[in-house]
Amino acid sequence: MNDMRLTERVRTEMATKMQARGVDVHYGDTHAIKDVSIDIPDRTVTAFIGPSGCGKSTFLRCLNRMNDTIPIARVTGDITLDGEDVYDRRVDPVQLRAKVGMVFQKPNPFPKSIYDNVAYGPRIHGLSRNKAELDGIVEQSLRRAALWDEAKDRLDQPGTGLSGGQQQRLCIARAVATSPEVLLMDEPCSALDPIATGQVEELIDELRQNFTVVIVTHSMQQAARVSQRTAFFHLGNLVEYGETGQIFTQPEDPRTESYISGRIG
Ligand SMILES: Nc1ncnc2c1ncn2[C@@H]1O[C@H](COP(=O)(O)OP(=O)(O)OP(=O)(O)O)[C@@H](O)[C@H]1O
Ligand SMILES: [Mg+2]
Repeated sequence: MNDMRLTERVRTEMATKMQARGVDVHYGDTHAIKDVSIDIPDRTVTAFIGPSGCGKSTFLRCLNRMNDTIPIARVTGDITLDGEDVYDRRVDPVQLRAKVGMVFQKPNPFPKSIYDNVAYGPRIHGLSRNKAELDGIVEQSLRRAALWDEAKDRLDQPGTGLSGGQQQRLCIARAVATSPEVLLMDEPCSALDPIATGQVEELIDELRQNFTVVIVTHSMQQAARVSQRTAFFHLGNLVEYGETGQIFTQPEDPRTESYISGRIG
């Protein structure tokens, strides 16, 4: 009986949150993503790795339709969130991005106060009924992003006045404030020093209790530290995808092996 329950739990933990089938992306004549299919498990950190220009950011942006904002980008194939087609004409991309949030490489706080940065999403999506509720969301989001202690006495000061690492944690707080189900992070630590990087990595590990996280990283050490699954991209192809430990110790494809051993990239 216990075994049954355990099996059930494992199955729930590894349930597929997002699924891509036969996805291609073109920018004009550039074929940036080639027939990519992948299952992204729920409440798990999935890392996308691969050499510069291989399509990691492009594919990440397919997951919350950020490529819609690039006029020459053309996305084909199927992508689902909990089995629902995210490219369905009835799906509002703004609503989708509240569910599939994004954190970018360069911290990009709005030119507003710390409080208003975090309150921005909950306000436009009407997630609170009054000031007290909004205060609660702001505090909880800043706590989740491990920024509350540093920010609580200066909530009315501009977000742009924080340090780089604090700004990135503010952007994470802003992203989690709408309670997204999936959080996409494109090289979130590349502008950070080792201490801030360590804080953000710890945070990513905590976030997986509640969120599905997909992180693009150039650091294989980071992928190994924070992710449970790793996808290796090369020239627009998804070459190999599997359990992180396996990808780094026993890759099946010679291209993965070359990349992780530092021969390409
Ligand atoms: N907005 C764009 N317009 C035209 N081509 C683009 C655009 N964005 C990306 N590309 C092209 O698509 C391909 C994949 O780029 P992408 O940025 O997805 O790679 P990446 O793996 O994220 O690289 P990096 O590690 O350098 O960030 C490249 O050939 C790139 O030049
Ligand atoms: Mg990129």
